[in-house]
Amino acid sequence: MKKLLVTMLLVAATATSAHAGLKVIGRGDAMRLDPSSFPPTMKANYEIVRVKCVKCHTLERTIVAIQTGVAPISGQPFDRSATKAYGIKMLRKPDSNMNKAEVKASVDLMNYLLSESEK
Ligand code: HEC
Repeated sequence: MKKLLVTMLLVAATATSAHAGLKVIGRGDAMRLDPSSFPPTMKANYEIVRVKCVKCHTLERTIVAIQTGVAPISGQPFDRSATKAYGIKMLRKPDSNMNKAEVKASVDLMNYLLSESEK
């Protein structure tokens, strides 16, 4: 019985911390996504984002933009028509250490996540 209760509490906790279709783990600088339900291509894209998009800021910035639909620094809209421009903006930053293919993978992932978070 106790075991069942613990399981139920865990399920409830996970359900409330997830934003609709988006499974977010941790908060602040430790914020990241749970890619377990992503299709294989998006899992691969997430591996790129997880490594490449944390050089200058944490993943929180990207996740908050997707969750809220607003880019947190500029306050500009963050939707599927804007992701490519943000990707290119990041690519062009000094020492971004990214190539076009990696930015494309990141943009594809952000578009996928935006669709998922609308569900
Ligand atoms: C070379 C450093 C660097 C890398 C690498 C980088 N960023 Fe950024 N990012 C910044 C800086 C600096 C800002 C501050 C606002 C600006 O200049 O747009 C920023 C801002 C942002 C914002 C908020 C934009 C706004 O207008 O509020 C998002 C979202 C974002 N980055 C996502 C990403 C993603 C996704 C990647 C990987 C594809 C990435 N960043 C890689 C430096 C970087």
